[in-house]
Amino acid sequence: MRFDILTIFPGMFRGPLEESILKRAQEKKLVEIAVHDLRKWARDKHNTTDDRPFGGGPGMLMKPEPIFEAVEDLKRDAPTARVVLLTPQGRKFSQQVAQELAQQKHLALVCGHYEGVDERVRTALVDDEISIGDYVLTNGALAAIVVVDAVARLVPGVLGHADSAKDESFTGGGLEYPQYTRPAEFRGMKVPEVLVSGDHAAIARWRAEQSRQRTRERRPDLLNERKAK
Ligand code: ADE
Repeated sequence: MRFDILTIFPGMFRGPLEESILKRAQEKKLVEIAVHDLRKWARDKHNTTDDRPFGGGPGMLMKPEPIFEAVEDLKRDAPTARVVLLTPQGRKFSQQVAQELAQQKHLALVCGHYEGVDERVRTALVDDEISIGDYVLTNGALAAIVVVDAVARLVPGVLGHADSAKDESFTGGGLEYPQYTRPAEFRGMKVPEVLVSGDHAAIARWRAEQSRQRTRERRPDLLNERKAK
């Protein structure tokens, strides 16, 4: 799977994409991630990508021309790329949206900055708008990193264990059951007996019940969502 990221802060991507699972996924060529500096598509000698809003008001907006031209250049090589704008006005990101995006061969992520982007980017260029939550970040770069991370780990082969992404919080609609590793007793706290019993059917029942109980206590909204589907 390929990700193209358009941003005026390419430096923000350096750390997160160069560590751990995302680093290995790129080395193994399971995912390809290219970060592009939008200023490359600016038209003047100051590399301007922002301007004042018509009608007045605070802050600056991202100009349409560099974004349109950058996306058009990317689409020449990858006409099927799905173009996603990161914005607090987008539909809310979730495990389900991550699974949906992971079906794509090619994602182009456009990071908003300043007070926002020219409305014509929304209406005439992008296919989708995504928010990673109801709060406002200084720009879309961190949101794009969250999306790349959550989507890339669903690409087959990226996680070491094939079942790792199947049996985790949200995938089945609820939260994951509690997990323990060695030692079996730590500072007087014992691992639940059933987990060391070797009885796999009993372990599966215990986990399912714990998962239900945990979801009911902490995230009842997820149970309602499941019912609503
Ligand atoms: N840009 C600023 N805030 C954001 C958010 N919550 N989600 C996506 N992009 C953003």
